[in-house]
Amino acid sequence: MAGDPLHTRLCEMLGVDYPIVAFTHCREVAVAAIRAGGFAVLGEAMKTIEELEDDLRWLRERLGDKPFGIDLVLPKSAPPTKSPQEFIAEIPARHSDFAQRIKDKYQVPEPKGTVALHQWGGLTQEMGRAQIDLLLEERVPVIATGLGSPDFLMDAAHERGLMVWGLIGQPRQAALQLERGVDAVVAQGYDAAGHTGAMGTFSIVPAVVDIAGDTPVIAAGGVTSGRHLAAALCLGAAGVWPGTVWLASQESDVDPLVKQRILAATGDDTTRTACISGKTMRILRCPWTEEWDEPGAPPLLATPYQMLLSAEYLQAANDHRRADLMTEAVGQGVAFVRDTRGTGEILLDMAEEARDILLAIAGRGGKAVGR
Ligand SMILES: Cc1cc2nc3c(=O)[nH]c(=O)nc-3n(C[C@H](O)[C@H](O)[C@H](O)COP(=O)(O)O)c2cc1C
Repeated sequence: MAGDPLHTRLCEMLGVDYPIVAFTHCREVAVAAIRAGGFAVLGEAMKTIEELEDDLRWLRERLGDKPFGIDLVLPKSAPPTKSPQEFIAEIPARHSDFAQRIKDKYQVPEPKGTVALHQWGGLTQEMGRAQIDLLLEERVPVIATGLGSPDFLMDAAHERGLMVWGLIGQPRQAALQLERGVDAVVAQGYDAAGHTGAMGTFSIVPAVVDIAGDTPVIAAGGVTSGRHLAAALCLGAAGVWPGTVWLASQESDVDPLVKQRILAATGDDTTRTACISGKTMRILRCPWTEEWDEPGAPPLLATPYQMLLSAEYLQAANDHRRADLMTEAVGQGVAFVRDTRGTGEILLDMAEEARDILLAIAGRGGKAVGR
């Protein structure tokens, strides 16, 4: 539509109707968001090569030629190769004893299956590289990376006509990614679910826009409604990258027990803590986060040691559906997630509300909340 305030250069770049990029770990959510006219990036860092292959096949069967993205990690600091057991053997006894005390106190059972974290692509260069090589081989249109985006990836992706997007939490990280030649920067603020930095969305987005030149900036952190989308575009972003808003959707594979907590939660029910992974991460409070906050708790370990320490607790909570123990990466915008709706409906409502607000601000009709 000519003069449509939602038709940004991100829409042009991706051939989509709305500048909304759904971040999700659930492939059904990704497909629903793309079918509704948005875009989606599927978080696959915990997947084995076989699972990743299966997901790519599954997505392509449903999406045909429509583009989509996959999000992985490749931390620079990871060793070339090392088994999860070798990492675990290096965890200090004081820390494993403390983790065991938490498990005893809350009667946390043993996980039922293999601990999924043991296949996390961030553990070693070898594992991360194998995942990335598959995305290159399969010509995944958008490859997004949160922790690190090495030069080899940039060159190899661009040679194949694929895009690389970099997720950042600080303007200096954005400057580095831009220097390397990323095709879009996802500027993620403090409000966000998952690993998140210390700068608020309202501060980081315009700061990154100011240095990004022609490279589109996508705003992340706290975006759950059309009001947020409109505000992000006003800050100079070319689109938004919400994650929390899809967690309680009809398509979401989040456990119904956790969905109930999400629907009742406010921003205060989340905490930003390094006790899950060794890097600051926003999640719903749970006994594990409360215990590591206590004054007697050992100092937190670095990634991946803290992550391997928390993995059994987290997996056991999910495997046994212990609502009292379970948690999920959830952002402060959870306060605006109040019902279970279809992903497409959430996306279209967000777009419609944002368009109304932007048209009203421009004096071209529409109706703006609170104006
Ligand atoms: C359940 C969940 C898991 C996440 N896991 C990852 C991840 O594996 N990799 C990543 O780059 N970002 C991850 N994120 C963060 C998102 O990419 C996104 O930046 C964030 O959700 C945006 O903020 P919002 O949650 O306030 O919408 C996750 C978010 C959620 C909700």
